[in-house]
Amino acid sequence: MESGVFTFLLLCTVWLNVEALSVSIPQKSYDVPRGGNATIPCTFKTTVQNPKSAVITWSRRPNQPDAEDVVILTYFYPDESFDLSESFDPTRFSIDAKVLTGQANLLLKFLKFEDSMLYECRVQVRGDTTGNTAAITNVVVLVPPTKPILNVQGKPEYGQNINLTCVSEEASPSPTYKWESYDVLNNLRPLDPKSTVKGGILSLFNVTKETSGYYICTSTNKVGSASSNFTLSVLPPSLNIGSTAGIIGGVAAALILLVIIICCCYCRKKKQQEEAYAMGAPEYTDKDPDGNDENHHPQESSVVYSDSKGPITRRDQYEEKSEHNDDRRSDINDRRRDYDDRRSDFDDRRSDFDDRRSDINDRRRDYDDRRSDFDDQRSNYSDRRDKYSDRNERYDDDRHYDDERRYDDRRGQR
Ligand SMILES: *[C@@H]1O[C@H](CO)[C@@H](O)[C@H](O)[C@H]1NC(C)=O
Ligand SMILES: *[C@@H]1O[C@H](CO)[C@@H](O)[C@H](O)[C@H]1NC(C)=O
Ligand SMILES: *[C@@H]1O[C@H](CO)[C@@H](O)[C@H](O)[C@H]1NC(C)=O
Ligand SMILES: *[C@@H]1O[C@H](CO)[C@@H](O)[C@H](O)[C@H]1NC(C)=O
Repeated sequence: MESGVFTFLLLCTVWLNVEALSVSIPQKSYDVPRGGNATIPCTFKTTVQNPKSAVITWSRRPNQPDAEDVVILTYFYPDESFDLSESFDPTRFSIDAKVLTGQANLLLKFLKFEDSMLYECRVQVRGDTTGNTAAITNVVVLVPPTKPILNVQGKPEYGQNINLTCVSEEASPSPTYKWESYDVLNNLRPLDPKSTVKGGILSLFNVTKETSGYYICTSTNKVGSASSNFTLSVLPPSLNIGSTAGIIGGVAAALILLVIIICCCYCRKKKQQEEAYAMGAPEYTDKDPDGNDENHHPQESSVVYSDSKGPITRRDQYEEKSEHNDDRRSDINDRRRDYDDRRSDFDDRRSDFDDRRSDINDRRRDYDDRRSDFDDQRSNYSDRRDKYSDRNERYDDDRHYDDERRYDDRRGQR
C-alpha cells in the first residue's frame, strides 16, 4: 500500500517534470564598471532528454514602465549559432550557450552607460512548453555622477516662488541630490523650512532678499559624487517685461481700432456721397430740377428764357446762330450720350468697388489707391460738367432766339 502511494507520487513528479521548463538568472542585478566586460549567467532545466531543438532569446528594455523589449540575439539549437539583431555591435554582444547542460549566458563587452537596462533570457525547448520560460535581471553599468547642471525656474524677485534644479547628465545607478545653502558671508545655514527638495529640485517660496546666497547641489551614487554651486541674487520686482509688452500691445490695439473706426466712418460718408453722385442726375442737370432728361424741350425750358436778358439785341444774329444752334444741339446730344455711357461705366466701377470692399483687409492699400484714382476721375468729371453747363446755357440762349423768332413769325402771319 505504502509503496503504491510512493510509486504514484513518483509517477506524478516525473509526469510534471516532463513538461516543466525552468529558466533562471542567479542575481536580480549585476553591477558592471563602465568599459568593463560582463557575463550574465542564465541557466535552464528541462526534463526532455536530448531535446531535438531549442531557441534561446536575449532581449533588453530600459528600466522604466511602458518601455519596449528589443531583441539582442536569438540562438538556435542544434545549429549552435545565433542571429544578432541589427543595431547591436557584434564585438560587444554574444552568447555562450550549451543546451545539453542548460546554459545560456550573455556576454557583454566594453559596457557603456546606455547599456544599463533590464535583460531577459527566454528559452524554448521542443516538447517542453510550460513552466518558467524566461528570467530577467538588471544590468547596472556603474558611472559616477557628472558635474550637476544647475538652473533657476521662475524669476528671482521678492515674493516669487522659484525652483533651483540640479541634474547630473550621467550617473548610474541613479544619484541622490543634496542641496546646501550658504549666506552672503559664506556661512552654512539651514534651508528655509518652507522650501522643499524633491529629486534634484529645490523649491523656494515667497523669496526675499535673505534668500540670496550660495546654493550647492551635490549628486551622489555608490561610485562617486559631484557638486556644483550657484549664486542666487533675489532682486526687487522690476517692471515686468511681459506686462509692459501687454500694455504696449493693448495701446497699439486700441489705436488700430480707433483708426479703423475713423476709416469706416469716412468711407461710409464717402460712399453716401458717391451714391448720391451716381444716382444724382439733379446734381449736375442743374437746368432741370425734376431730373427730367428732356430738359431741352422748349416748353420746359421756357422759364429760362421768359425773363432772358436782351435777346432782342441779338435778333439780327439769329440766322447765323440758328445754324450753329442745330450743330450745337447734336453736339450736346452726343455729349450727353457720352456722359450717360460714362455714368454706367461709373456704376460698374462702383459695384466692382463694393466687391473689393468686402476684401477690405487685404486690399486696403489697393482700395485707397483706387479711391484717389477715383477722386481724380471725379474732378475730371466735374470739369466736364462745368463745361457742359456752360454749353447748356449758351444753347438755351440760342434756342431762346429760335422761339422768339417763331413767335414773331406767327404774329406776322396773323
Ligand atoms: C574585455 O574583453 C576584451 C576582449 O574580449 C579584452 O581585450 C579586454 O581587456 C576586456 N576588458 C576587461 C576590463 O577585462
Ligand atoms: C517648481 O517645481 C514644481 C514641481 O516640481 C512645479 O509644480 C512648479 O511649477 C515649479 N515652479 C516654477 C516657478 O517653475
Ligand atoms: C511673503 O513674505 C512677506 C514678508 O516676508 C509676507 O509679508 C507675505 O505675507 C508673504 N506672502 C506669502 C504669500 O506668504
Ligand atoms: C563654486 O564653484 C566654483 C567652481 O565652479 C569653485 O571655485 C568655488 O569654490 C565654489 N564655491 C563654493 C562656495 O563652493
